[in-house]
Amino acid sequence: MVNITAVAIAVLATVAPALVAADNCNPAFNYCGKTLLGMGNYRPQIVEALKAAGKADTEWNITNTLFDCLPDNNKGNIRVLRVCSVYCSDQGKGVSDKCYNTA
Ligand SMILES: *[C@@H]1O[C@H](CO)[C@@H](O)[C@H](O)[C@H]1NC(C)=O
Repeated sequence: MVNITAVAIAVLATVAPALVAADNCNPAFNYCGKTLLGMGNYRPQIVEALKAAGKADTEWNITNTLFDCLPDNNKGNIRVLRVCSVYCSDQGKGVSDKCYNTA
């Protein structure tokens, strides 16, 4: 466990540095890009996370990708879970957002 955690932290420190002060996401939940943008200046981190995942950082993908909030000492770092195929739906506070993949 300790080794896995140490490796995970090292990887995160490399790929997803907290670039700006923003209201941090809660690691208990997943977030749409558009939800993160509503919480603060998450845009640079979203673009970085998309690039790290090999996804195009288009405006559509920035708002409609579902992100995992990482349990990285509540630093608010994020990772791409998936680019939604139809759209990403903000489910409100206290629950994870979700992808709609069928119309
Ligand atoms: C979103 O990202 C995917 C994966 O990189 C890309 O294939 C797709 O064209 C992008 N979609 C839009 C609407 O920008």
